Amino acid sequence: MFYLLFAIIIVLLSVTIAGVSFAPWVPAWKSDLPRIFKLAELKPGQIFYDLGCGNGKVVLYANKQFQAKSIGLEISLPLYFVCKVRQLFNLNKNLIFKYKNLYREDLKQADVIYFFGIANKLDKLRAKLERELKPGCRIISYVFPVIGWIPVAVDKPNPKDISIYLYIKN
Ligand SMILES: C[S@@+](CC[C@H](N)C(=O)[O-])C[C@H]1O[C@@H](n2cnc3c(N)ncnc32)[C@H](O)[C@@H]1O
Repeated sequence: MFYLLFAIIIVLLSVTIAGVSFAPWVPAWKSDLPRIFKLAELKPGQIFYDLGCGNGKVVLYANKQFQAKSIGLEISLPLYFVCKVRQLFNLNKNLIFKYKNLYREDLKQADVIYFFGIANKLDKLRAKLERELKPGCRIISYVFPVIGWIPVAVDKPNPKDISIYLYIKN
Protein backbone atom coordinates (compact mmCIF):
# COMPACT_ATOMS: atom_id res chain seq x y z
CA MET A 1 0.00 0.00 0.00
CA PHE A 2 2.82 2.37 0.98
CA TYR A 3 4.69 1.66 -2.27
CA LEU A 4 1.56 2.23 -4.37
CA LEU A 5 0.92 5.56 -2.65
CA PHE A 6 4.57 6.51 -3.14
CA ALA A 7 4.39 5.63 -6.86
CA ILE A 8 1.19 7.67 -7.30
CA ILE A 9 2.81 10.69 -5.59
CA ILE A 10 5.89 10.43 -7.85
CA VAL A 11 3.73 10.21 -10.97
CA LEU A 12 1.55 13.17 -9.94
CA LEU A 13 4.60 15.21 -8.98
CA SER A 14 6.39 14.63 -12.25
CA VAL A 15 3.27 15.42 -14.30
CA THR A 16 2.77 18.64 -12.31
CA ILE A 17 6.41 19.69 -12.71
CA ALA A 18 6.14 19.16 -16.49
CA GLY A 19 2.99 21.28 -16.67
CA VAL A 20 4.60 24.14 -14.78
CA SER A 21 8.00 23.89 -16.48
CA PHE A 22 7.05 23.93 -20.19
CA ALA A 23 3.70 22.32 -20.97
CA PRO A 24 1.42 19.57 -19.74
CA TRP A 25 1.12 16.51 -21.93
CA VAL A 26 -1.14 17.26 -24.87
CA PRO A 27 -0.03 15.29 -27.91
CA ALA A 28 0.26 16.75 -31.40
CA TRP A 29 -2.29 15.33 -33.85
CA LYS A 30 -0.92 12.36 -35.75
CA SER A 31 -2.46 13.78 -38.92
CA ASP A 32 -0.29 16.90 -38.48
CA LEU A 33 3.00 15.00 -38.62
CA PRO A 34 3.39 15.33 -42.42
CA ARG A 35 2.87 19.11 -42.10
CA ILE A 36 5.44 19.34 -39.31
CA PHE A 37 8.03 17.43 -41.30
CA LYS A 38 7.33 19.25 -44.54
CA LEU A 39 8.55 22.38 -42.75
CA ALA A 40 11.39 20.52 -41.05
CA GLU A 41 12.99 19.30 -44.33
CA LEU A 42 14.76 16.68 -42.22
CA LYS A 43 17.47 14.66 -43.97
CA PRO A 44 18.98 11.25 -43.17
CA GLY A 45 21.66 11.49 -40.48
CA GLN A 46 20.61 14.93 -39.29
CA ILE A 47 19.99 15.53 -35.60
CA PHE A 48 16.36 16.03 -34.65
CA TYR A 49 15.11 17.02 -31.18
CA ASP A 50 11.63 16.99 -29.69
CA LEU A 51 11.84 19.18 -26.58
CA GLY A 52 9.28 17.59 -24.27
CA CYS A 53 8.59 14.49 -26.34
CA GLY A 54 5.52 13.13 -24.51
CA ASN A 55 4.85 9.57 -25.67
CA GLY A 56 7.65 9.78 -28.26
CA LYS A 57 5.38 9.77 -31.32
CA VAL A 58 7.10 12.65 -33.12
CA VAL A 59 10.59 11.32 -32.36
CA LEU A 60 9.72 7.86 -33.66
CA TYR A 61 8.28 9.39 -36.82
CA ALA A 62 11.46 11.43 -37.43
CA ASN A 63 13.58 8.34 -36.98
CA LYS A 64 11.49 5.95 -39.06
CA GLN A 65 10.50 8.20 -41.94
CA PHE A 66 13.69 10.22 -42.32
CA GLN A 67 16.44 8.04 -40.77
CA ALA A 68 17.43 11.01 -38.62
CA LYS A 69 19.24 10.77 -35.32
CA SER A 70 16.16 11.47 -33.25
CA ILE A 71 16.34 12.61 -29.66
CA GLY A 72 13.40 13.06 -27.32
CA LEU A 73 13.71 14.83 -23.98
CA GLU A 74 11.02 14.21 -21.39
CA ILE A 75 10.76 15.28 -17.76
CA SER A 76 7.63 13.34 -16.86
CA LEU A 77 8.55 9.85 -15.60
CA PRO A 78 5.48 7.95 -16.79
CA LEU A 79 5.79 9.41 -20.29
CA TYR A 80 9.51 8.69 -20.36
CA PHE A 81 8.74 5.04 -19.53
CA VAL A 82 6.20 4.92 -22.36
CA CYS A 83 8.95 6.16 -24.73
CA LYS A 84 11.40 3.55 -23.46
CA VAL A 85 8.84 0.78 -23.93
CA ARG A 86 8.15 1.96 -27.48
CA GLN A 87 11.90 2.01 -28.08
CA LEU A 88 12.04 -1.73 -27.27
CA PHE A 89 10.04 -2.32 -30.45
CA ASN A 90 12.27 0.01 -32.48
CA LEU A 91 15.81 -0.95 -31.53
CA ASN A 92 17.99 1.53 -33.34
CA LYS A 93 21.06 3.44 -32.16
CA ASN A 94 19.77 6.64 -33.75
CA LEU A 95 16.66 6.67 -31.55
CA ILE A 96 17.36 8.23 -28.17
CA PHE A 97 15.05 9.10 -25.30
CA LYS A 98 16.42 11.00 -22.32
CA TYR A 99 14.76 11.53 -18.98
CA LYS A 100 15.91 15.12 -18.86
CA ASN A 101 14.82 18.71 -18.33
CA LEU A 102 14.92 20.30 -21.79
CA TYR A 103 16.54 23.45 -20.39
CA ARG A 104 19.56 21.33 -19.36
CA GLU A 105 20.33 19.82 -22.77
CA ASP A 106 23.06 21.36 -24.91
CA LEU A 107 21.39 21.86 -28.30
CA LYS A 108 24.34 23.12 -30.33
CA GLN A 109 24.47 19.99 -32.57
CA ALA A 110 20.80 20.13 -33.54
CA ASP A 111 19.73 20.42 -37.18
CA VAL A 112 16.00 20.52 -36.46
CA ILE A 113 14.28 21.41 -33.19
CA TYR A 114 10.59 20.72 -32.64
CA PHE A 115 8.47 21.64 -29.62
CA PHE A 116 4.90 22.04 -28.46
CA GLY A 117 5.13 24.28 -25.42
CA ILE A 118 2.64 26.69 -23.91
CA ALA A 119 2.83 30.27 -25.13
CA ASN A 120 4.13 31.95 -21.98
CA LYS A 121 7.03 29.46 -21.61
CA LEU A 122 8.46 30.03 -25.06
CA ASP A 123 10.20 33.22 -23.99
CA LYS A 124 12.64 31.36 -21.74
CA LEU A 125 13.21 28.73 -24.42
CA ARG A 126 13.80 31.40 -27.06
CA ALA A 127 16.74 32.81 -25.09
CA LYS A 128 18.31 29.34 -24.84
CA LEU A 129 17.82 28.65 -28.55
CA GLU A 130 19.34 32.01 -29.48
CA ARG A 131 22.41 31.19 -27.37
CA GLU A 132 22.97 27.61 -28.44
CA LEU A 133 21.66 26.77 -31.90
CA LYS A 134 23.93 26.77 -34.92
CA PRO A 135 23.06 28.96 -37.92
CA GLY A 136 20.65 27.25 -40.30
CA CYS A 137 19.01 25.13 -37.61
CA ARG A 138 15.29 24.78 -38.36
CA ILE A 139 12.92 25.38 -35.47
CA ILE A 140 9.33 24.16 -35.55
CA SER A 141 6.80 25.39 -33.01
CA TYR A 142 3.46 23.59 -32.90
CA VAL A 143 0.38 25.74 -32.12
CA PHE A 144 2.11 28.76 -30.56
CA PRO A 145 4.40 31.34 -32.20
CA VAL A 146 7.67 32.35 -30.59
CA ILE A 147 7.10 36.00 -29.71
CA GLY A 148 9.99 38.16 -30.86
CA TRP A 149 10.87 36.00 -33.86
CA ILE A 150 9.50 36.35 -37.38
CA PRO A 151 8.49 33.00 -38.85
CA VAL A 152 9.91 31.98 -42.22
CA ALA A 153 6.65 30.09 -42.84
CA VAL A 154 3.37 29.40 -41.09
CA ASP A 155 1.54 26.26 -42.12
CA LYS A 156 -2.24 26.50 -41.70
CA PRO A 157 -3.91 25.15 -44.82
CA ASN A 158 -7.44 25.68 -43.47
CA PRO A 159 -8.87 28.03 -40.83
CA LYS A 160 -9.64 25.04 -38.59
CA ASP A 161 -6.10 23.63 -38.81
CA ILE A 162 -3.53 24.12 -36.08
CA SER A 163 -0.81 26.64 -36.92
CA ILE A 164 2.71 25.32 -37.25
CA TYR A 165 5.53 27.88 -37.26
CA LEU A 166 8.93 27.53 -38.92
CA TYR A 167 11.92 29.62 -37.86
CA ILE A 168 15.49 29.36 -39.12
CA LYS A 169 18.41 30.34 -36.89
CA ASN A 170 20.59 32.98 -38.50
C1 LIG B 1 2.35 19.61 -25.12
S1 LIG B 1 3.28 18.15 -24.77
C2 LIG B 1 3.98 17.82 -26.35
C3 LIG B 1 4.33 16.37 -26.56
C4 LIG B 1 4.98 16.06 -27.92
N1 LIG B 1 6.12 16.90 -28.15
C5 LIG B 1 4.01 16.23 -29.05
O1 LIG B 1 4.12 17.22 -29.76
O2 LIG B 1 3.12 15.37 -29.19
C6 LIG B 1 4.66 18.85 -23.83
C7 LIG B 1 5.56 17.79 -23.21
O3 LIG B 1 6.67 18.43 -22.62
C8 LIG B 1 7.01 17.75 -21.41
N2 LIG B 1 7.78 18.71 -20.58
C9 LIG B 1 7.32 19.76 -19.89
N3 LIG B 1 8.32 20.43 -19.30
C10 LIG B 1 9.48 19.79 -19.66
C11 LIG B 1 10.85 20.02 -19.39
N4 LIG B 1 11.27 21.05 -18.63
N5 LIG B 1 11.76 19.17 -19.92
C12 LIG B 1 11.36 18.11 -20.69
N6 LIG B 1 10.07 17.84 -20.98
C13 LIG B 1 9.13 18.68 -20.48
C14 LIG B 1 5.65 17.34 -20.85
O4 LIG B 1 5.76 16.29 -19.92
C15 LIG B 1 4.91 16.96 -22.12
O5 LIG B 1 5.08 15.60 -22.42
